[in-house]
Amino acid sequence: KPVDRITVEVNGVQHIIFNTSPKTSLNEWLRSQPGLKGTKVTCQEGGCGACIVALTKQDLSTKKDKIIAVNSCLFPLFAADGFKITTTEGLGSSRSGYHPIQERIAEHNGSQCGYCTPGMVMNMYSLLSENAQPTKQEIEDGFDGNLCRCTGFRPILDAMKSFAKDENPIDIEDLQRCQGKCCGETRTCHGCCFNQEQISAPMWFKPASLKYLYTILNAHSSDSVKMV
Ligand code: FES
Ligand code: FES
Repeated sequence: KPVDRITVEVNGVQHIIFNTSPKTSLNEWLRSQPGLKGTKVTCQEGGCGACIVALTKQDLSTKKDKIIAVNSCLFPLFAADGFKITTTEGLGSSRSGYHPIQERIAEHNGSQCGYCTPGMVMNMYSLLSENAQPTKQEIEDGFDGNLCRCTGFRPILDAMKSFAKDENPIDIEDLQRCQGKCCGETRTCHGCCFNQEQISAPMWFKPASLKYLYTILNAHSSDSVKMV
């Protein structure tokens, strides 16, 4: 039986919707009525994350707004009654200026065909809204429901992890100065020799040190693109 009347706020605009079919998903409505096609649709069964939007609801225990990522393909439109929805268009665009998450994913080459990107961005937006200082592991765990079929996950996760509190970008010049005597053999560079005052610059040029340098670089490059 259709639901007589619901109210949904999308990107700050109130929508009153009459006679909502229980079969209509939030995704279907977003893409057809307000015409917000930035929210994508692929699997329609909650498996790819392309359709993720941010939903704001009140936490009944704290009475504070809580932002959660929802798969709009599985979310019935009538269930969004009274909630606020944010889509990628509400975050930023070429006209209004891009949101830092959108900028970061572009800077890290984390978008190729771009179909998965709005879902990735909205998932990250929801995560950061609830946890402004996530760890890299928390971010990685938060993306187990998002699929990308072309970019590969490393640049996407690199972009998202640049927001992590434990992110410690390692500069290529630091890598070149690294003598590889501390953690290079373990394939996990912690940058522990970067601050040593007496580093013999020519050392990394010697064949034995180059082996360590390659080991460290491999630890930070894609598993499928080895440097040696
Ligand atoms: Fe794949 Fe919604 S379209 S999770
Ligand atoms: Fe093409 Fe992710 S960029 S699916």
